[in-house]
Amino acid sequence: MSTPLQEHNRERFDRIAADWDDSPTRRALAAAVADAIADAVPIAPHWRALEYGCGTGLVGARLAPRLGHLLATDLSPGMLRVLAAKARAAGLASLETRVLDLTRESPPAARFELVFSSMTLHHIADVPALLHVFHGLLQPDGWLALADLDAEDGGFHGPDVPGVAHHGFERSELTHWLADAGFRDIAARTAHTVEKTRDGHTARYPVFLITARR
Ligand SMILES: C[S@@+](CC[C@H](N)C(=O)[O-])C[C@H]1O[C@@H](n2cnc3c(N)ncnc32)[C@H](O)[C@@H]1O
Repeated sequence: MSTPLQEHNRERFDRIAADWDDSPTRRALAAAVADAIADAVPIAPHWRALEYGCGTGLVGARLAPRLGHLLATDLSPGMLRVLAAKARAAGLASLETRVLDLTRESPPAARFELVFSSMTLHHIADVPALLHVFHGLLQPDGWLALADLDAEDGGFHGPDVPGVAHHGFERSELTHWLADAGFRDIAARTAHTVEKTRDGHTARYPVFLITARR
């Protein structure tokens, strides 16, 4: 059974999938997050990774050439279709796409050296429960890398965007949830800052990368 939150997100992201990559702001954010993950995590060419909420693969397609295999997952079949077409065009044979909603489906049986996710946690109602699922998806010593907004006033999306469960996160709260889920070596850094100008006023939204190990 899907909740209204999941339905809003599937409907919205299916609808905007074709235009998602047109935004220079989204492309710059994703590139910065991918670079921050590559800097923080000692990725090896044999690693199998799972990306959660991959969208059109702005982050994952940059990391895939450094990995043995990337299972790129998302709630939205429309976003995944855009990614699959890009991966085919780029000859990225090691990238596989799969519709997956870990808030209501069983996780895959496979275990991964790396699980990563960018700008998806704020769409998830029960983040601590998802962190437990991520922990179970990792090999012993495996790495988790999560990027999302620092706590903000709701101005990032504005009042009219459905499917938003959190106005960013306090890094200290996420760190606490990660420790509760069994993660260790938890470290946070700022990966990027998004600037949005509305009505002549520019607001800055820092985006963290938190890494942790199973
Ligand atoms: C803001 S977009 C980010 C996409 C991509 N990570 C990027 O950086 O461009 C959030 C993504 O999370 C996905 N999403 C939202 N809720 C989800 C859920 N419950 N399970 C899996 N994916 C979800 C959406 O479909 C969307 O592709």
